[in-house]
Amino acid sequence: MSFEKPGDIVREAYKNKYGVVAFNAFNYEAMKFVIEAADQVGKPVLIQHYPGWYDYISFETAVEMAKSLAKKAKVPVGLHLDHCYDIDLLKHAMRAGFMSVMCDGSKMPFDDNIKFTKETVKAAKEFGADVEAELGNIGSAANISDYADKSKFTDPDDALRFLNETGIFSLAVAVGNAHGNYAVLPNLDLPRIKTISESLKIPLVLHGGSGIPDEQLKEAVKCGIAKVNVCTDYFRAFYDAVKIYVNDDKKSKDIFACMIASQKDVTKFLVDKINVLNG
Ligand code: 13P
Repeated sequence: MSFEKPGDIVREAYKNKYGVVAFNAFNYEAMKFVIEAADQVGKPVLIQHYPGWYDYISFETAVEMAKSLAKKAKVPVGLHLDHCYDIDLLKHAMRAGFMSVMCDGSKMPFDDNIKFTKETVKAAKEFGADVEAELGNIGSAANISDYADKSKFTDPDDALRFLNETGIFSLAVAVGNAHGNYAVLPNLDLPRIKTISESLKIPLVLHGGSGIPDEQLKEAVKCGIAKVNVCTDYFRAFYDAVKIYVNDDKKSKDIFACMIASQKDVTKFLVDKINVLNG
């Protein structure tokens, strides 16, 4: 199995009506723990790289690391580029080996988002890569109106026009979700997901997967979500595991021992999350 095209992994999930989790990971341990957790449960998984981390870890390093770690896995592992706002960076990432990228033009006027996305799809064709785009306003989970105000949600008619004009592989939708820690419990607009899914017939992506109750995630997958992004909860689970070690005076002050000791709790979080969507 090992390193596969993310589009193939997501297409398989879409066809068979389960969800694949895309965990953001910016270093060796964060990638390794995700891949080993997926291997433990025998389910495919995606790793997401965020372009804003470029000064910390280059696209090239992320690709080489993911490839080398994935080689040891029995399950399909894919590497995807998360929110990217710049065509040159998108091309750079694809040149470095990303076979799936997200071009996020959601903050642009509709027609500019179409133009940017079309340009990305055209460039991606040269690399044989797949493109995820975003339509609607997936804002911050700290701002309740970002995920409660339906005027900010993805409009199904706009979504169909967007797909027809751009030829994207998958679409990130605003359906009551937002990034970060939710100030109040989110309430996903499941009928909207279903309507968009039945109309577009392509994999839909749910960003802001942290803090959404498991039952809602499962229902969202039944309605057409094939990929769920999780970052905040993963980083917190990792942080909490490290904190337990660091706060234990009996433990040696050894960062390697700390990483090894943390893996068990981090893996539990990852396994649970993968199983919610693909149980
Ligand atoms: P969370 O940080 O809210 O889990 O969102 C992750 C995400 O959607 C990355 O694109």
